[in-house]
Amino acid sequence: MQIRSYDAPAQARPLTILGLETSCDETAAAIVRLDQNDNAQILSDQVYSQIDEHALYGGVVPEIAARAHVGILDRLISHTLAEAETDFAQLDGIAATTGPGLVGGVMVGMMSAKAIALAHDLPFVAVNHLEGHALSPLLQEGQTQKLEFPYLLLLVSGGHTQLLSVEGVGKYTRLGSTMDDAVGEAFDKSAKIMGLGYPGGPALERAALAGDALRFTLPRPLKGKPGCDFSFAGLKSAVRRTWEELPQKDESARADLAAGFQTAAADVLIDRANNAMDIFAAKHGAKAFVVAGGVAANTFLRGQLQAAAKAKGFGFCAPPMRLCTDNGAMIAFAGALRLRAGHCNDLAIHARPRWPLDEGAAMAQPKSGSGKKGPKS
Ligand code: KG4
Ligand code: ZN
Repeated sequence: MQIRSYDAPAQARPLTILGLETSCDETAAAIVRLDQNDNAQILSDQVYSQIDEHALYGGVVPEIAARAHVGILDRLISHTLAEAETDFAQLDGIAATTGPGLVGGVMVGMMSAKAIALAHDLPFVAVNHLEGHALSPLLQEGQTQKLEFPYLLLLVSGGHTQLLSVEGVGKYTRLGSTMDDAVGEAFDKSAKIMGLGYPGGPALERAALAGDALRFTLPRPLKGKPGCDFSFAGLKSAVRRTWEELPQKDESARADLAAGFQTAAADVLIDRANNAMDIFAAKHGAKAFVVAGGVAANTFLRGQLQAAAKAKGFGFCAPPMRLCTDNGAMIAFAGALRLRAGHCNDLAIHARPRWPLDEGAAMAQPKSGSGKKGPKS
């Protein structure tokens, strides 16, 4: 990727960054300020969810998503600047998700950011969406006990399921990833099978609250096997089979199957995370186990992961709920940390629909799940 060096002033000073996120079905813009000690403050964080535009189709339609981003982004940026009581002249840089994601949407945010950068002579930072999620747990406003590198990250979203050792900004070692569906995709598809509507993840979590997780026997793919990879396709198929064979598809069956699915998915995530904690601890000691990405907004899963971390002697950290699902603040924050490290990008950089975080390793040994992010239906 074309990286330019940014002449960071020798004396650290506050940095104020506008971040844009348009890689899927949320149009988001935020302004984050890093003070001279790299404490972050979110000055404004606007997310426009396109749920209504996609609900009719039961999942994200890429063309509709791209058009919706075009329709709203300008106004959203104006609102963000107004809420932060700032203007382009007071910014130190502009960051935008440049991949991975739905390319039409990524282009909308990236091109807008480049145009603003050019017009206002600001550095442009191309942010990997996954890096936004990976660093989001560090974006804890006003916390005295700060999370520090290195930490072990479980990244769970609609397009990705990965375990990564996060050693610094731009320094990621992947310990495992999904061989088929991402866990968020499995939530969404299972919800769709049961007629729980869109978006599926939160709907399934709500349905599961009243359910009996033991009523149906569901598989736990790869549980008990060595390594840190994941597989969710078999679990999703079992949900489909179970649902189709049910003579009485009523509310209580829906709740029970939702609870069964959620418990099975959590069991698999914990089993693989336990292996990863052992590997991480052997190298770095037991430090922090961190979960991020849209599925990290699941309260049941957060509780289960916290208990698993405690049992292994790890600390536990998760971003606040609103920073789990896609948002502009995590992109502005990642951009600010990159700028602080002296990196910005050439305006000639292209959008990257696939863009693994651990680029060097992924090229040497391509794996599935290395940056693909598709429609969430
Ligand atoms: O990070 P994100 O907003 O977008 C991607 O980068 O993919 O993650 C979206 C995913 C969707 O699959 C959505 O169903 C899932 O996160 N999700 C949840 C919950 N909230 C969002 N899954 C389970 N429980 C939730 N509460
Ligand atoms: Zn995301």
